[in-house]
Amino acid sequence: MSEESIKSYFDKVDSLKSSFISRLADAVAIPSISAEPERRPDVRRMGLWLESQLKELGATDIVLKDLGIQHDTADLPLPPIVLARYGTDPDKKNILIYGHYDVQPAQLEDGWNTDPFTLIEKDDVFYGRGATDDKGPVVAWLNMLQAHKELGLEIPVNLVFCFEGMEESGSLGLEELIIAEKDEYFKGVDAVCISDNYWLGTKHPVLTYGVRGCNYYSITIEGPAADLHSGLFGGVVHEPMIDLSHIFSKLVTPKGEILIPGIQEMVAPLTTAEDKLYDAINFDLEGFEGNIGSKTVIQDNVKDALQARWRNPSLSIHGVEGAFYGAGAKTVIPAKVIGKFSIRTVPDIESAKLDQIVIKYVEDIFATLGSKNKLKAELIHDGMYWVTDPHNWSFRAAAKATKAVWNVEPDYTREGGSIPITLSFQDVLKTSVILLPIGRGDDGAHSTNEKLDLVNYIQGTKTLGAYLHYLSQEEKDA
Ligand code: BES
Ligand code: MN
Ligand code: MN
Repeated sequence: MSEESIKSYFDKVDSLKSSFISRLADAVAIPSISAEPERRPDVRRMGLWLESQLKELGATDIVLKDLGIQHDTADLPLPPIVLARYGTDPDKKNILIYGHYDVQPAQLEDGWNTDPFTLIEKDDVFYGRGATDDKGPVVAWLNMLQAHKELGLEIPVNLVFCFEGMEESGSLGLEELIIAEKDEYFKGVDAVCISDNYWLGTKHPVLTYGVRGCNYYSITIEGPAADLHSGLFGGVVHEPMIDLSHIFSKLVTPKGEILIPGIQEMVAPLTTAEDKLYDAINFDLEGFEGNIGSKTVIQDNVKDALQARWRNPSLSIHGVEGAFYGAGAKTVIPAKVIGKFSIRTVPDIESAKLDQIVIKYVEDIFATLGSKNKLKAELIHDGMYWVTDPHNWSFRAAAKATKAVWNVEPDYTREGGSIPITLSFQDVLKTSVILLPIGRGDDGAHSTNEKLDLVNYIQGTKTLGAYLHYLSQEEKDA
């Protein structure tokens, strides 16, 4: 594979721009929200859309793995995992591509400027739910196939696609599938590439070698048999929401310090060598503020902020099911509330031990309240952190691809977010994993007005293709 054919691929990508945009628009139009029960059919529809796209582009051995039923409150059917191959040449390396086709919830009323499920362009930026997380990158892989197909250019590696529809809800069923398919569908995989994260800032491309884990908990507090009038029963009953507020206040300080004893002790100490890595990153506090859209960063320097995001645990409080949340002033005492919080985990926190510490802590705090309500604290889902060596053959190929497209050396970053399946791929398939992002740090994943810049979409599609070309030439590490 010559530099010349990479160049021809780049030109083809440029010329297919409008076709790529309409493909992304089609993907965004399907509201595949895994967290909302009533949207589950749309998640499935998105999986079927991917199947038809893959078929049209010439993928083979396309299988929709049925994962059965999600055994919790609603007993919903799980969306299929879409598996496909592209090429089966025994002389080529086998690269597994993972992405997710589900998205976060989104409603116009949340503060979107335009309908979240209609891809809309303004000043060369595309807005829509999933534009960057993770439909843009998933569709970019499809674009890469289309460009090669239309050019008649051979892809120099064999591809194994694995697209799931439950990532935003804890990747239910995926780890079991990887274990089951380890010596079957996933046999012989040499490397895994995931494009499901973002540049650190808005200008400089990055390659990512770590993610935090995420253990997500719920606290259910039940008291009265039904919601009550606070005029009649305020001061008379133990209120679930008051109990919950007390518990919430004992989890974390306003400066982000986790108050649960025993967690910090498990965090791997910062070595001088690791500490130095942060000095080389192209980023500043203004960059953080730009990502956030306000000047509310806790730390007063970029190094501490990056360490807080990449290598330290954090605890966030997400919401309360059952609480009054609408406009106005309703004088209700909610009878049952479910508080939700999560902890981002880092090396060397032991997940099972963390769960035990956290649940016992919540129970102990509740016991001190002297409330007659009933409490249940439990884990909803967990996903492990992952950190790897950013200088292996896969990263070398990705660095060359980045250089070829953007004409700069990439920064090497870790992420504060989580992709629960990353470590499973590495451990079960005994292979290296790389995170190769397309979008920018200010794309607003999970937020309102999520976007993907056109240049990132197009150059990102180039980068993914170039990565495969350089991978085919790169010598695998021993
Ligand atoms: N694409 C994100 C992961 C991510 C987030 C990478 C931020 C880099 C920065 C992914 O779709 C995601 O949102 N993951 C969830 C996982 C959770 C449900 C366990 C997350 O991080 O909240
Ligand atoms: Mn994602
Ligand atoms: Mn996400």
